[in-house]
Formats: sequence, C-alpha cells, structure tokens
Amino acid sequence: MNWEMLTALWPYIRRYRGRMSAGLIILLVNTAAFVLIPFEIELAINDLGRGIDVAKLLRYCLLLMVTVIARGVLNYYQRLIMITISRLIEFDLRNDLLAKLETLSQAFFQKFRTGDLMARAVNDLAAVRNMVGPGIMYSAQAVVLFVYVVAILWRQDPVLTLIAFVPAPFVSLAVQWFGKRIHERFERIQAMFSRLSTRVEENLGGLRMVRAYTREPLEEERFDRLNRQYVQHNMRLVLLAGAFDPLLQFLLGVAFVLVLWFGGRAVLEHRITIGGYAAFNLYMAQMAFPMIAMGYVINLVQRGAASFTRLRELLTQTPDIADGPATDASVTAVRGDIEFRGLNFDYDGQPVLRDLNLHIRAGKTVALVGHTGSGKSTLVSLIPRLLDAAPGMVLIDGRPIREIPLRVLRKSIGLVPQETLLFSDTLRANISFGVPNAGDAAIEEAAGIAGIAGDIADFPEAYGTRVGERGLTLSGGQKQRAALARALLRNPHILIMDDALASVDTITEDRILEQLERGRLEGGPHSRTTIIISHRISTVRNADLIAVLDHGRIVEQGTHAELIGQGGAYAELYEKQLLEEELSQVE
Ligand SMILES: Nc1ncnc2c1ncn2[C@@H]1O[C@H](COP(=O)(O)OP(=O)(O)OP(=O)(O)O)[C@@H](O)[C@H]1O
Ligand SMILES: [Mg+2]
Repeated sequence: MNWEMLTALWPYIRRYRGRMSAGLIILLVNTAAFVLIPFEIELAINDLGRGIDVAKLLRYCLLLMVTVIARGVLNYYQRLIMITISRLIEFDLRNDLLAKLETLSQAFFQKFRTGDLMARAVNDLAAVRNMVGPGIMYSAQAVVLFVYVVAILWRQDPVLTLIAFVPAPFVSLAVQWFGKRIHERFERIQAMFSRLSTRVEENLGGLRMVRAYTREPLEEERFDRLNRQYVQHNMRLVLLAGAFDPLLQFLLGVAFVLVLWFGGRAVLEHRITIGGYAAFNLYMAQMAFPMIAMGYVINLVQRGAASFTRLRELLTQTPDIADGPATDASVTAVRGDIEFRGLNFDYDGQPVLRDLNLHIRAGKTVALVGHTGSGKSTLVSLIPRLLDAAPGMVLIDGRPIREIPLRVLRKSIGLVPQETLLFSDTLRANISFGVPNAGDAAIEEAAGIAGIAGDIADFPEAYGTRVGERGLTLSGGQKQRAALARALLRNPHILIMDDALASVDTITEDRILEQLERGRLEGGPHSRTTIIISHRISTVRNADLIAVLDHGRIVEQGTHAELIGQGGAYAELYEKQLLEEELSQVE
C-alpha cells in the first residue's frame, strides 16, 4: 500500500465519505465504550475492596451491563456501515471494470485472456473489497484502541506502560518483514490463478475439440501441472502466514510476563492500587486481540493492494479506438459511401493489406473474394473501426473515418461476422441485440428476410426459444441466419456479410440474397450499401462490383461479366466451381 495507490483508490472511497465519516465516528465512540469497561472494573474492585454490600454490587453490575449493551449496539452499526461501504465500492469497481473492458480493442483481448480477466473480476475484486471493508475497519479500530489505551495507561503508570510496550518494536518489525513477503507471494498466487482460469476457460470452450482429438489425458496432465504449482505457491504462503501468528502471540506473552512482574512489584510498593493493576492487565488483554488481528489485517491490506494493482492494470488501459480530437460531433448519420485510399495495414508489423484502393459507392452491392488469409475480414473490420488504419486511409462519405463519432458510425453498420455468436438468451433477445426497443413485427420481418422465420416458427417457443447453454442448439446455418436477422433489424446503411451464409445451402442463400436485393432496390427506409464476402461465385455474381483480393492487394475488380472476360483469377475460380458443380451432378 503506498501513496500512489491511495490516490487511485480515493475516488472510490470519496463517493461514500459521508457514510465513512459516520462509520468512523461510531468507531471512536464504540472503542471508547470498550476501554470504559476495565476502568469500571477498576472502580468496582477498589470500592468493593473497602466493603461489599448488595446495593453497591448491583450498581456496578448495572453500570457494566449498560456499557456492554451500548458497545454491542455501536459495534453492530459500525460493522453495518463499514461493510456496506466495501460492498458499494466493489459494486462501483465492477461496473467500471466492465465499462472499461467494453471500450478496449481486439489487441487487448489477445493480450489478456478471458480466464485471466475472470480471475481479476472475481478474486481480485473480492480482495479489494476485503481491504476497504474489514481492512480499513480493523486497522482504524486498532489505531484508535492503541491511542486510548496508551493514554490511559500512561496516566496510571508511565514506567509500567513503557515496560509493557518493550515487545512493540519487535511486533512492528515482524509485521513489516512478513507483510512484504506475504504481499509478494500473494501476488504470485493471483497471477497463477489467472493462468489456471485461462486453461479451464479454454478447455471448456473447446471441449468438443478436446474430445474429438482425444486430447483429454494431455490436457488433464497440463492442467494437473498448473494446479500443482498453484497449490505449491499457496503452501508457501501458508508457511509464512502460519509462522506469523504464533510469533505475534509469543511477543504478546512476553509483554504479559513483564507486566506481571513489574506491576506486581508496583502493587507491593503501593505505587498502584489492586484495581489499577487489574485494569492494567485487562487493557493489555484488550490490546492483545487487535495486535494478533494486526497480522490478519496486514494480510488483508497487502492482498487488497496486490489485487488493486492488478485491477488498475485493466482500469488504466487507454482504449486505442475511441473518439478523439478529429471527431466532428455535427455528423449524425452515414450515407454509406466507403473508400479505401492507399490503404496499408499490418498486425504487429506483419503486413496484411498492401496499397489497397477501392471505392464502394453508397447504395451499391460489392463483393470481396479471395483466398483464405488474403485479408478480406481484416479489410471489413476497418469499416466499423474494430481495427484502425492510419489516418486518411479509410473514408466514409468522403471524409476521414475518424471524423465520424464512433457511436454514429457503428449504429449505421450491420456486421454479420465470420464467426457467429449467439448469447444464452431467447431468439427474440438475440435478434434484437443492440436494438432494445424493437417491436415484434420488426423482429419477424428481419427474420423473414434472413430466411430464418420458418425455422423459428417450428421451434417449441418460437421467438421465446432459448438458445445456447441450457437451450436449443441451432445448426450452423440457423445461427448464421439469426445473426443476419440481427444485423438487418438495425436497418443499417452499411451491411457487411463476412462469409455469413457459408453454412447455408445455395438454394436458401439465393433466396435470401434476392430478398436483400429487393429491399435494397426498393430503397427500404433508406438505400443500403452491401458488402458480401464469399468463396462462392454463386453468391457474388450479381454484385455491382466484385473485387478480388490476393495477399492483401486487389488484383482485379469489375462486374461478373467483365471479370470473366478478363480471364484472370476470378475466371479461373469460376471455371473450377462450375466443374465441381457438374461433377457433383454426375455422381
Ligand atoms: N488478430 C490478428 N492478429 C494477427 N494476424 C492476424 C489477425 N487476424 C488475421 N491475421 C492475419 O492476417 C491475414 C489476413 O487475415 P483475414 O482474416 O483478414 O483473412 P480472410 O481473407 O478473411 O481469410 P478467410 O477467407 O479465411 O476468412 C492472415 O494472414 C491472418 O493470419
Ligand atoms: Mg475472413
């Protein structure tokens, strides 16, 4: 825990400073009630020593009762307030974390794997909560108690007080020495746990793969190794933490022995009363618990600090794709004219797109074909700015793409990605994803155009059918069409289909394309630019423009007829597919 970290944590605590102050005031009063108890016992012993009667006894009992009850009530509210604050701070942190993660780009998620992120979002968040809740509460309580008790003891007998605190410097040294090491080991454990989570996550995600390739024994072995390492790291922490408590207790015992010896002599020499001596011991005992708990609290704070550092690593990431100084807030719509101008793009120095020029006019249908790995998906990812090219290389409606507010840009685009993702939710929710107020009629219309309406009607609960985990499993083609419906429901000015109908049979695909085409020509609510990526000639042959990509360059472009006439790569692909078709009919 250092200053820099405190300033980072402060904004979260600040929001609850009213409650925090209330909690701390209650803590002050609560602790005062606590230290009142030995004092009352001192009074009782000294007074009763001069003569006992029932009235006196009752009076002292009553006094103690009231104090103890008051303390109980105060203690309850102190905990209630301070623990509540820690839950609220955890809540805020969790929200900030998700909000931040949602702004981060692909590159970030390649660096931080899902399992790692989950570990941070669960374990580290809990550790921070324990630091700002119990951590703050117990350390404040210990400090306040210490100040109270030392002040009281000092007035009673300064020499005896000093003697009682002879072991204190050793306690402080031990706390520092152990604290640092616990912190380090805990940090390593959390990192280890992140790796473990990543393995679990990837294994479960790819379970079908693992089974199909009978990789279970191998995966188990790898997991076993990681799991073993994790336990070993934990054991090393236990060794350390296990030695810490007994050491503290020993130092405390030494303090008690010293007080017993020197205090006893003080009583013999009539320097303090018997009651005073008893109170002295009681105060020492009251200090014992916070001292021992100090170990636990230091632990909490060290862990919390380690975890907070890990959370901050995420919270301080700057989104590399966001609105910036170039953004022109006056742009509220996109027409759909797309131009790539001298475009170069690389992944970490690996060139993928090379000096690429392509103009897609608003309202047109443009197809991209090319070998696998030629850069088609990369190219279309630049349009909704899932990836960013250097400034000036991508223009929308004739202006640099960075001038368009990200929200406006993405709202105008319907992207059907190559890998479909449906959420574990109803079909209705999946299709209306991103359009929260969509009506049933619109959802059904989108499903109709995407050619999935018929399938959905046959499902047990139609649009209310749940898909994914604990729901219906859709076929590859059904998933793709549901994803297309999702994109269509947005009524996008730009529709991008990245190999989006590859799992759909050609007859169904033709019908869907025809419906899309009709919607485009009729204009719909507005005309639409459509980009179709496909390996099938039948899918792209009717496009207004076909561009052929090869190793990140456009090697041919034109209409189907023009490209066939040129007799280049496209014509070759066409002939090959024609031949395949004929052969399959012969069989
Ligand atoms: N996130 C990434 N990081 C690094 N390299 C990548 C990344 N995504 C793609 N690539 C590389 O960029 C090149 C182009 O990939 P891209 O996905 O754009 O091809 P594609 O034309 O869509 O292929 P396909 O037809 O198989 O979908 C490939 O060589 C690929 O290995
Ligand atoms: Mg692709």
